Amino acid sequence: MKGMVLVTGASGFIGPGLCRRLQADGWRVRAVMRRRTAGPWDEAVHLDLGREALPPHLLADIDCIFHLAGKAHALAAGPGAEEEYRLANCRSTLDLLAAARSEGVRGFVYFSSVKAMGGGAADAPAPEGPYGRSKLAAERAVLTSGAAPHPVVLRPSLVYGPHPKGYLELLIRAVRAGWFPPLPELGNGRSMIHRDDLAQAAILCAALPRARGRTYVVTDDTPYSTRRIYECILEALGRRTPRWNLPIGLLRLAALGGDGIGRLRGRRLPFDSEVLEKLIGAACYDGTPIRQELGFQSRRTLPDSMAEMVATTRR
Ligand SMILES: NC(=O)c1ccc[n+]([C@@H]2O[C@H](COP(=O)([O-])OP(=O)(O)OC[C@H]3O[C@@H](n4cnc5c(N)ncnc54)[C@H](OP(=O)(O)O)[C@@H]3O)[C@@H](O)[C@H]2O)c1
Repeated sequence: MKGMVLVTGASGFIGPGLCRRLQADGWRVRAVMRRRTAGPWDEAVHLDLGREALPPHLLADIDCIFHLAGKAHALAAGPGAEEEYRLANCRSTLDLLAAARSEGVRGFVYFSSVKAMGGGAADAPAPEGPYGRSKLAAERAVLTSGAAPHPVVLRPSLVYGPHPKGYLELLIRAVRAGWFPPLPELGNGRSMIHRDDLAQAAILCAALPRARGRTYVVTDDTPYSTRRIYECILEALGRRTPRWNLPIGLLRLAALGGDGIGRLRGRRLPFDSEVLEKLIGAACYDGTPIRQELGFQSRRTLPDSMAEMVATTRR
């Protein structure tokens, strides 16, 4: 046995796979979450990070913290979102850093997001929305606090895998229900990463001395357009790709109609310009540094994972 690590957010979409890999590598895992959930960990601590004080022995004997707990998957931010994200993503990180310092924890691997850099450059970020801003603030605290001698920030792109959530879950459900229109190929690349590959990247970051103090974007190196994702879903459903495309101009018109009706009703419609932008916008990020510096290699791709994702998406 190598020792004990702490994984916060262990019961979420990404956490269980990471815990399983850590255990397979010989680590014991202490998991943090709010709700009681069974999973691949040796000890569980139920705690509302950011709101409740950390129990005194949470970090006793911990070599490295993998901090995943936080608020994600929101498709639209409502009022009060800034404070909600700050508490969930930033406050929890500051509390853990303070405790890590006093307990002499070696490593701190923070799961941020590409939204912390948004459309900006890696070293000149332009965070997207309250989520991105809270993640960037937490990243800066991790890297500058000096609380743990081996801090690393990961900026995963959209994460895929069985039981998908958020964007991919919506898309799969819409295509399966038959109301997702065949979009033309718009060449809008979207970076993604399979959750098993992300877990591997996090473990490399914790282990390799040269990762210390670094911030890494993690992608599977193949940007997927909305059209490509649509085709992958159809293929996994055993359906043929339609021979016709809905012209993008028509979709833009429909979205503008959605904006107008939403304004009149004082409530957004399920389809408007913001939703269209999420569907057809590009979100392409460069994951080269972690490959070159740490030798990270992704093994999974979206097409080879889609059948499993479709099978595990609720109706
Ligand atoms: N999924 C993606 O596409 C993606 C992309 C980029 C970055 N990330 C980042 O990766 C991390 C993990 O993402 P995920 O997709 O696995 O998230 P998730 O499915 O929403 O899981 C969140 C986990 O955190 C726990 N949690 C949330 N708030 C907590 C709190 N206040 N105190 C204690 N535990 C709390 C949840 O358990 P309880 O509900 O029981 O508390 C759950 O275990 C997040 O920080 C996210 O921002 C995810």
